[in-house]
Parts: sequence; structure tokens; C-alpha cells
Amino acid sequence: MTSAATQAQAAAAPIDSVIPAPVSVTAVPNANYTVTSSTQIRAAAGATGVADLLAGVLRRSTGFALPVSQSTGDGISLQLSGADPQVGTEGYQLDVSTTGVLIKAATVAGLFNGTQTLRHLLPAKIESSTVQSGPWTVPGARILDYPRFAYRGAMLDVARHFFTPDIVKRYIDEIALYKVNYLHLHLADDQGWRIVIDSWPRLATVGGSTQVGGGAGGFYTKAQYSDIVSYAAARNITVIPEIDMPGHTNAALASYAELNCNGVAPPLYTGTDVGFSSFCVSKAVTYQFIDDVVRELAAITPGPYIHIGGDEAQSTSDADYKTFMNKVLPIVTKYGKQAIGWHEVAKVNPPTSVTPQFWGTGRSDSAVASAAGRGNKILMSPANKAYLDMKYTSSTPIGQDWAGKIEVKTGYDWNPGAYVTNVGEAAVRGVEGPLWTETVKTRQDIEFLAFPRLPGLAELGWSPWSKHNWDAYKQRLAAQGPRWQAMGVNFYRSTQVSWP
Ligand code: ACM
Repeated sequence: MTSAATQAQAAAAPIDSVIPAPVSVTAVPNANYTVTSSTQIRAAAGATGVADLLAGVLRRSTGFALPVSQSTGDGISLQLSGADPQVGTEGYQLDVSTTGVLIKAATVAGLFNGTQTLRHLLPAKIESSTVQSGPWTVPGARILDYPRFAYRGAMLDVARHFFTPDIVKRYIDEIALYKVNYLHLHLADDQGWRIVIDSWPRLATVGGSTQVGGGAGGFYTKAQYSDIVSYAAARNITVIPEIDMPGHTNAALASYAELNCNGVAPPLYTGTDVGFSSFCVSKAVTYQFIDDVVRELAAITPGPYIHIGGDEAQSTSDADYKTFMNKVLPIVTKYGKQAIGWHEVAKVNPPTSVTPQFWGTGRSDSAVASAAGRGNKILMSPANKAYLDMKYTSSTPIGQDWAGKIEVKTGYDWNPGAYVTNVGEAAVRGVEGPLWTETVKTRQDIEFLAFPRLPGLAELGWSPWSKHNWDAYKQRLAAQGPRWQAMGVNFYRSTQVSWP
């Protein structure tokens, strides 16, 4: 080998540095590929959007032109034919040889996922926003990869504290790198209503006018929201809007007096208590309101799901809760969407199209297990494992601890397909990491709680359980540290991980 080739060999990221761990990775000796100033990116018709996104990342740090074209040849190629059928709708094959990197998939989503793996195979400084020196070497490898679960999600609470579209887009960029494919936005709670509803305009202008601590709050116009949805879709992420109900509704109740049983609007709320608010279950206007909200939300939601909350309805009787859900769930269906609800919704024996989202701290829940037995798919977010807003340790400066402290290993070491009694692998739709924001005020706060725990959840959702191994994972995780530094991500340097 020439000394340049030796140097390139040394600079290549190890092939086992990818998170989530791929299904199959085989090293191919003497087959490293180095991206240079003459590298071209070649994409199948339909895949130039994915190629452009990849080029955008690579151009900033390499300074190379990296032209994208619909052509075939050497360099980086994205093909929509010839992939092993095992890749399914989201998987891909990635082959590195001395002349290039070939990514094959059956769908654009699969190609996008393959390009995220390619980013992990390049040196960490590939993520820098300024030009760095190479070499930009990809290790010789054959990869075959596809997800364990169809749903790998992250939730951001934009109600307790409002986050601008730019902050939401940055979070989308950060989670897409780990093949997360759903972003659930918690758009309404006691402290704020964050999306314009044209038929009920005071929701945004009054209900959106504050937040926890009394700050100015904010809301998304429909154009801003649709822009977030499109930005996410280009990165294989489907946005799920949540309007929490019948509890967690003070912002709506403060905006419209008629939604209250006594006809009196309560004041806006900027504290952090839960369980004190409820829509008026007996009033017809409540369901006209919900019909309008769901109709307008469905119209700006290309994805299949709308989340209707349903948690902690402590000011609604069990009988009223059942009456309420049995009226609301058909409204979601009427507008062509499937409902997700926090797992309390399982108590009303919802139709099998409804996905209860488990957020308990135990290992069993009879209503959730019964729903799974009837055929409902369950989304797994156990609060003492998957809640990204829990503190890591007692000295974590932000976050909550009602579900316990969640260090990195705790968040990684559980099996979503065998966690809740009588909710087996086949009954699980996937995993989601909720990030509640009572204590979270900035983009840096979001990053500090999500990283490094979110990649662990993404791996639980994507990688086969046979690949689950904390000792191997923590080394792959350590390799993300320089990547996050290059990206400017404010991550928690857990002492459980030997960061380089
Ligand atoms: C929840 O944490 N109240 C779903």
C-alpha cells in the first residue's frame, strides 16, 4: 500500500460503528472507497431528492462539488432496482468497492435509510458544517438491512414550551440520522395550543399566547406546519399531530367559554400540574369543536395517524371518559385517519384500528394486554425506559424524575417485543421516545435529553433483537460523540460510555 492508501485505511470509520446496528454487515478486505473532488452522486429517477440531501451533508465538510445526476457509473449510486427482496419497504443494501458505494432499495425510503448508514461509515467530521481535510474513506463492506418494527418514533412536546419551526427541523435532522420514521408533535395541553385552527381562531391567538413559566408561547400557522411536515417527509419521517383530550385541555377551555360545562372560561395556565382540566362531555358543542379540529388537522396530515391523547383524565369520570372516546374515535375515522391514544384509551375497548401507546412504569396492564389480545397494535413508550425527559442521574440539571432516573444503559436494556405481559412482538407497532418539555426551554436542552438516549431507542426499534448487546452498543455509541461534536449537538457525556 502507498502511504496515502495506508492513511486512508486508517481514517475509515470502522464498519461496526453504525447505529442502529444493521441486520448484516460483512467486511470486504481491500475494498475501501474514498470520496474525492471528482466523485459523482448518481441517482435513479425519483431518488434525486435523497441524493441532493446526501450531497448537501457531504459538500459542506468535504468542499467537493459532488454533482448529482441521473446516470450510472462509479462513485456513489442510489438504485431503485435489484435489491434483495428482504429489504422490504424501508430496507436497503449497501456495497462498498474500490470504485464506489452502491445503495439499492425497493423504495425511496430505503435509499434514504441507506444514505444515513453511509454517513455513519464516513469519518465523524463529515458532519461538520465547515470544510475539513480528508481523506473521506468508506470501509469496504456489504450491508443488508431492514427494520424490526415499522414504527420508530420520537415525540416532542411543543405545548409546555413552544419551539420554533427551525428548532423542530433541526430535531428532525438529528433523529433522521438514526432512521427514526415518525415525529409525534404534542400540539395542545393545559399550557398552550400550538396550531392554527381556522374555524376556532382563538385557540392559537389566545390558547397559544403563553407557556410554562409565563413566557410568550407561540403557535404554527398552517403554512409553517405543512412546511415542517414536508421537511420531515423528505427525510422519511411522518408527522403525527396530537391534540390531547378530554384532559390536558385548559388552553382550549381558556380560549372558548362555551367549551366549559359552566360556560365560564378559566384563566390561561402556566404551571406544571396535571389532571385538573376536562372538556365538557355532555355538551354537543364539544363534539362539533372536535369534529372541526380533526377535520382541519386531517387536511394538513398526509400520514395515517392522528393522536387524540386521552391520558390523565383525572377530572373526567370513567363513564364520561368512555362516552367521550366513543364519540371522538369515530370522528378520527370519519376523516380517514387512524387514532393513536395514550394507553388509557385501551379501557374503552377501542376498535383494532386504534393504537394504544403504553406509557406505564410497570410490566403489566390488563387493559393494554386485552387490547393486544383483540388485535390492537401497541406502541411502546414505557416511562421508566423510553421517556427522554427523565433525568439521567440525580445531578442532571433539567428533566423530571417521577418515572425514575434513566441512565443510558437503562434506556437501552429492555425488549419492546417482550416487555409488557401478554403484549408480544407481533402485537407491537414499534417504539417511541416522548420528550415532555415542562423543564426544557431551548434547542440545547432538547439535545441534552435526547442524546445519547434517542439512538438507543432507535436501535431497539430497528435492529434485530439478536444484535442487542450493551457492551458492543456502548462502543458504537462512543463513536457518535465526535459526530455530535461536529454537528454542534449538545449531548450528555454519560460516564457509562468511554467517549473518545
Ligand atoms: C403522559 O406522560 N401523561 C402520557
